[in-house]
Amino acid sequence: MNLFDVYPLFDIEPVKAQGSYIWDKEGTKYLDLYGGHAVISIGHAHPYYVEKITSQLQKIGFYSNSVKIPMQEELAQKLGKLSGYEDYQLFLCNSGAEANENALKLASFHNGRKKIIAFGRSFHGRTSLAVAATDDKSIVAPVNDGAQIEFLPLNDEVALEKAINTDTCAVIVEGIQGVGGVNIPANSFLKKAKALCEKHGALLILDEVQSGYGRSGKFFAHQYAGIAPDLITTAKGMGNGFPVAGVLIAPHIKAKHGLLGTTFGGNHLACAAAVAVLDVIESEQLVNNALSVGHYLMEKANAMSGVKEVRGQGLMIGIEMEFPVAALRKDLLFKHKMFTGSASNKNTLRILPALNITKQEADLFLEAFAAVLKTQNAEVL
Ligand SMILES: Cc1ncc(COP(=O)(O)O)c(C=O)c1O
Repeated sequence: MNLFDVYPLFDIEPVKAQGSYIWDKEGTKYLDLYGGHAVISIGHAHPYYVEKITSQLQKIGFYSNSVKIPMQEELAQKLGKLSGYEDYQLFLCNSGAEANENALKLASFHNGRKKIIAFGRSFHGRTSLAVAATDDKSIVAPVNDGAQIEFLPLNDEVALEKAINTDTCAVIVEGIQGVGGVNIPANSFLKKAKALCEKHGALLILDEVQSGYGRSGKFFAHQYAGIAPDLITTAKGMGNGFPVAGVLIAPHIKAKHGLLGTTFGGNHLACAAAVAVLDVIESEQLVNNALSVGHYLMEKANAMSGVKEVRGQGLMIGIEMEFPVAALRKDLLFKHKMFTGSASNKNTLRILPALNITKQEADLFLEAFAAVLKTQNAEVL
């Protein structure tokens, strides 16, 4: 059998990783500023994380949601404490798309409505409703095309006020748009969205799949706006590579047996991984590190010649150039041995390192980036 060939691949085969570094099978060492799509939060192969998962696997790796799994409660307690959402409820699942799918379903169960408002350049995943709410027609199959989704420009308060009404089920917005090129919803926009949702009985869903878990320099990016959404989705950094995701659900939304469900969600291994991640985020103060190293990186990148704009919060950074960044990324990868990310906005480089990246490691990137810019600018001129 062959693999279904959907991924364009770099000719690199990682075999080992530690902290912010990856080694390929030839022994070449790479600095990882991308974390495999923002997944690596506490660094590769963190010893505490490895120990927690290994010892859990030796006890029991999996059982389904038909028995008591107290680690789920431990995870919910810790997540509530660290995020400040202690009175919310947690539903555990396996991926970002699944978290959004469940959040959208839950909103619809709650108010009985069907219309969703989403935003231009959004990305919410590739399953049914999540992909329908994603602003990329090329990944929406005809079968997913029937949902009632209205796309509005991000940060357009007037358009939102006009569009929302008592037929609106939910408004879904990313804490910071990732795939779309690191676009930040304004604090005033999120406040307006919250107020309008409340007024019309719609639910506000914050997709923090990429921007959550401390990446932005707050536990969730929307906390810069001081709002409390009805539903918050999380995945990527939650398991540091172990597939685990969640929906944080406001207290006014009531659970009912059978309303949501999953076979794998919240299994013993997933909980061990997710608890270990929260322990490390707390004990190593990684939210603060994301804020300070992120600030340093953005300030330095902003001062470089040829850089059009730097957008971001904490360690979720988009560096926009005047030209497509594909060649620049290749140079960073193959000449300087550094992983970075792209975006649907072809001129934007995405920097999404582990939250425990050091200033010294950030400097290695800045030096390489400056060197690559020199050659790129020379070619452009
Ligand atoms: C904001 C956001 N939501 C949802 C998803 C989908 O997550 P997953 O690939 O785990 O389904 C992504 C993935 O990139 C994302 O960035």
